[in-house]
Amino acid sequence: MIKRTFLTAAAFLTFSIAFGQQYGGMWIPTELNEKEMKEMGMKISAKDIFNIQKPSIKDAVVQFNGGCTAEIISPKGLLLTNHHCGYDQIQSHSTVENDLLTNGFWATNPGEELPNPGVTVDFIVDIQDVSSFILKGTENLTGKELEDKITTNINAYKASKKTEDYQKIVIKPVYYGNKYYAYVIETFKDIRLVGAPPSAIGKFGSDTDNWVWPRHTGDFSMFRIYADKNNKPAEYSKDNIPFTPKYFLPVSLKDKKENDFTFIFGFPGRTQEYLPSIAIEKIVNETDPAMISVRDVALKTLNEKMRTDNATRIKYASKYARVANYWKKWQGEVEGLKKSGAIAKKREYEKSLATKNPDLASTLSQLERLYTAQAPYSLNRAYYGEVTRNSETLRLAGYYYNYINAAEKGKMTDDNEKRFKEMLTEFYKDYDAQLDAKVTSQLLALYAGVTKNPEFLPKNFKNNYGNESANFPKIENWSLNSIITGRATLNEATVYSDIDKVFADRSALISALKKDPFLALYTQLRDTYMNSTENQYQEEQIKIDALQKKYMAELMATDKDRKFFPDANSTLRVAYGKVQGSNPRDAVYYGYQTHLSGVMEKYIPGDYEFNVPQKLIQLYNTKDYGIYKDGSNDVPVNFTATNHTTGGNSGSPALDAEGNLIGLNFDRQWEGTMSDLNFDPKLCRNIMVDTKYILFIIDRYANAKWLLDEMKIVK
Ligand code: ARG
Ligand code: GLU
Repeated sequence: MIKRTFLTAAAFLTFSIAFGQQYGGMWIPTELNEKEMKEMGMKISAKDIFNIQKPSIKDAVVQFNGGCTAEIISPKGLLLTNHHCGYDQIQSHSTVENDLLTNGFWATNPGEELPNPGVTVDFIVDIQDVSSFILKGTENLTGKELEDKITTNINAYKASKKTEDYQKIVIKPVYYGNKYYAYVIETFKDIRLVGAPPSAIGKFGSDTDNWVWPRHTGDFSMFRIYADKNNKPAEYSKDNIPFTPKYFLPVSLKDKKENDFTFIFGFPGRTQEYLPSIAIEKIVNETDPAMISVRDVALKTLNEKMRTDNATRIKYASKYARVANYWKKWQGEVEGLKKSGAIAKKREYEKSLATKNPDLASTLSQLERLYTAQAPYSLNRAYYGEVTRNSETLRLAGYYYNYINAAEKGKMTDDNEKRFKEMLTEFYKDYDAQLDAKVTSQLLALYAGVTKNPEFLPKNFKNNYGNESANFPKIENWSLNSIITGRATLNEATVYSDIDKVFADRSALISALKKDPFLALYTQLRDTYMNSTENQYQEEQIKIDALQKKYMAELMATDKDRKFFPDANSTLRVAYGKVQGSNPRDAVYYGYQTHLSGVMEKYIPGDYEFNVPQKLIQLYNTKDYGIYKDGSNDVPVNFTATNHTTGGNSGSPALDAEGNLIGLNFDRQWEGTMSDLNFDPKLCRNIMVDTKYILFIIDRYANAKWLLDEMKIVK
């Protein structure tokens, strides 16, 4: 221990960021800053990272099920991603009797790998800057005309390209529409679960440790891509075979050193680095706190039942984690933005730009006016959105509302109805109407209480729903008599179990739905919201979008020294930096690496967040670490670096100077969660699982040596 403290103390002397990414950076892989990357220590070339002529690292990096990232680590299509990215799938194979969440899962041969209908994996075949094509003829257009012209150009571009039937072209704007990029994407659909550690490893520390460093989570799971006989994408079939990739990542077991070059290759979801200070102010003071307050209530109620009832714990595990994740992130974001004085700094920056460019000054003052005018609508939108999302019954009512609408407009085709029924079946599988009646009662009361402008609420809403304890018996009673909750029947059938029967007679269903109290309440809420808020919000937003585009262009033209990167938009990006700890507060220094001994320091026997599996304790006690220990004779678990990452980067490979896999990205540290709005090199660190820990668990904990045999391990 003493030795490690000493190392850490020596290391913090080098914390100052020795490279140009003062504002962070998530770079388009066809436009890498190769020179800076090499200066920082990269040994490979930009072409090794992204090349459409030859196999390159990008051929091993995929978007996992539309949200996370995963990477291929064997010639047999073995995929590595986070435990929390595979969580839905792990949960869906779990029951009280066969609880893979609690016990983990390890296939002992390919025949035992578990299929996951609906799960997809996307490869990026090509990236092209198509700005001149898409923006052609739009120079003098605004509003609807501009939008239409862009749509026409996008369609023309797509029509001009030939793709295979398992490929698609997606075109996305960057820099608020100042540029456009086209992506050729190939989608695989037979993705099987290969292995997952128990939650006590994969989710160790759970919500208490989430977004926090020092961290000790083995947040990984493994899948495999299957293809047809010709190695092409195919729907699930038992005849499919493991996919042979163009490229797969070698896995490194080398020790990490502070300041080692590293990069993250993945699909960051959304950042807003170029918002004006006024927008940040509204987020910090209004919308983030509003969203947090709604989730406070929902989470507390769910948690009470999940802690005491096993079936509920499994049912709600994935949903709860998802809601808790951003609930906590927003809190870190607000705290970080406040403590770092981000708004004042942005204001200063804007002032200095304004003196250089009067056009930009005028754009900023118009934005200030628009964001201020939009603020009350944004706030109500935040509340309404979270209330109708976190009350599952209101969410269900929303689905049925859309169903009726589509049916009455003649748009509910057989195909659409089939998908709708599938979606409902999934939903009901993990839904507890009684539990949600509690949540809904509380959220309605909250919404009534916080909404100051009476125009935002239906007539008499405060009187009817302002009191939580008065709400409950009413809502519970409704819930018993509602087809929506699946607790009432329609012609002796319930949507839970007889979904086909319930949907067999559409007009009977619709007329029953129209008498449903939840649907009536939802409709009232929705109509009032649309007329009083959403329309007004969007009216301002259209103007804001146009000005943001202008501001972005002016910003780039004015701040000539700054190297700009486009905000994340769920497309493939490279972030690079150094393995580093941080000095987030006065006299507080974080080392860059945690170890197995730290898992044991946090161990609380039987605790739902900090329990440690017996077998891992044994491995710790016998210290039989073999090749998985580092120079301190301990197994490294997690580490941090200065890479700029966000949601969607979960599961992204962390690579070293040679392009070997050294870690698996899964989180950021608390002090730097604000990096989606304001990257600060002093405070922002991404958190990764060390490949040594991953291989240690696969080998020593799971005895799944057959998986290690597939990999190319670099020692
Ligand atoms: N914070 C990480 C991310 O944004 C990990 C989330 C895992 N979920 C959890 N509730 N612990 O996805
Ligand atoms: N855990 C996040 C995800 O699921 C990544 C961490 C982050 O937001 O930085 O994508």
